[in-house]
Amino acid sequence: MKVLMVGETGQLARFMQITQPQSNNRPNGSTQNKDSKVELVCLGREQMDLSQPERINDILAGYTFDALVNAAAYTAVDKAESEPDLAQMINADSPAELAKVCAERDVPIIHYSTDYVFSGDASRPYKEEDATGPNSVYGQTKLAGERAIRGAAEKYFIFRTAWVYGELGQNFFLTMRRLAKQRDSLSIVNDQMGGPTYARSLAECSWQIIDQLDQNVERPWGTYHMSCAGEISWFEFAKALLTQSGFSNIQLSPLTTAQYPTPAKRPAYSVLDNSNLAKALGVEMPDWQQALASCIQHASTPTTLVL
Ligand SMILES: NC(=O)c1ccc[n+]([C@@H]2O[C@H](COP(=O)([O-])OP(=O)(O)OC[C@H]3O[C@@H](n4cnc5c(N)ncnc54)[C@H](OP(=O)(O)O)[C@@H]3O)[C@@H](O)[C@H]2O)c1
Repeated sequence: MKVLMVGETGQLARFMQITQPQSNNRPNGSTQNKDSKVELVCLGREQMDLSQPERINDILAGYTFDALVNAAAYTAVDKAESEPDLAQMINADSPAELAKVCAERDVPIIHYSTDYVFSGDASRPYKEEDATGPNSVYGQTKLAGERAIRGAAEKYFIFRTAWVYGELGQNFFLTMRRLAKQRDSLSIVNDQMGGPTYARSLAECSWQIIDQLDQNVERPWGTYHMSCAGEISWFEFAKALLTQSGFSNIQLSPLTTAQYPTPAKRPAYSVLDNSNLAKALGVEMPDWQQALASCIQHASTPTTLVL
């Protein structure tokens, strides 16, 4: 099966490459080997710039594929507040074009969205059908992307995830570990609850689902939540990850959101209920504790993926 992936250098894109079924972990371009069921071709920003939705049709004309994965997005949550048009093009207008081409060719599109489509006012994990109400430009543009895909294609999976981290890329996990080496104390927000999601788990789970596409059977297309199970605050997550990473001496202090103002408003509670993923697609994400332990273990061993 030929899988075309938009995105090459982001967290999810990298872990998709590392975890592709029976892969040789080769970094760029076609990564098929003779035993692999999947041929993964990655389109980095140089091959496809999502800020130019008008070019997408022509670019895709140069590729054949059985499924398309969009692992790229405008993810600079605070910067998006001052670049709404660019965020809209990358997160909504271009995904709409990708979905149109997929629909024309009758191939599925796999796209990722975010807990930020919700307001964060809930007191129990969000289900897929719960009312959305983003309170940031990033969340609004990601929601617009979801709607565009649902409007353009029938064969789609939209996976909403949250708080993505890993031993590669730019994320909370790596930032905390870097700061712990530089400082004696850290203050971290303690009144935002979510489900920290290891990008490797997200990628592995995605591949399980993509692998089933090869079987030529009808799939329960739709929007699903795909985050690591459980819930925790950023402060408690930082405490867990630093303690388990051997930085037990650092002094951690809890902050309120009001004490740490940011340009984009964050949802106070954005835990996602993943139960539909297991019920409809037979795939379960690990809980955040298991995933964190796995990330820490992987962080201590060098990765073979060089980009
Ligand atoms: N990170 C999170 O905490 C989080 C939470 C919830 C949902 N999500 C969703 O999960 C998905 C994967 O996120 P991630 O964490 O892997 O993101 P990421 O690490 O920030 O990577 C974003 C990727 O998008 C690419 N990109 C940005 N602008 C582009 C453009 N104009 N044209 C082409 N490529 C462009 C980047 O390429 P360059 O390297 O060239 O910039 C990068 O490869 C996204 O849909 C995101 O919205 C993420």
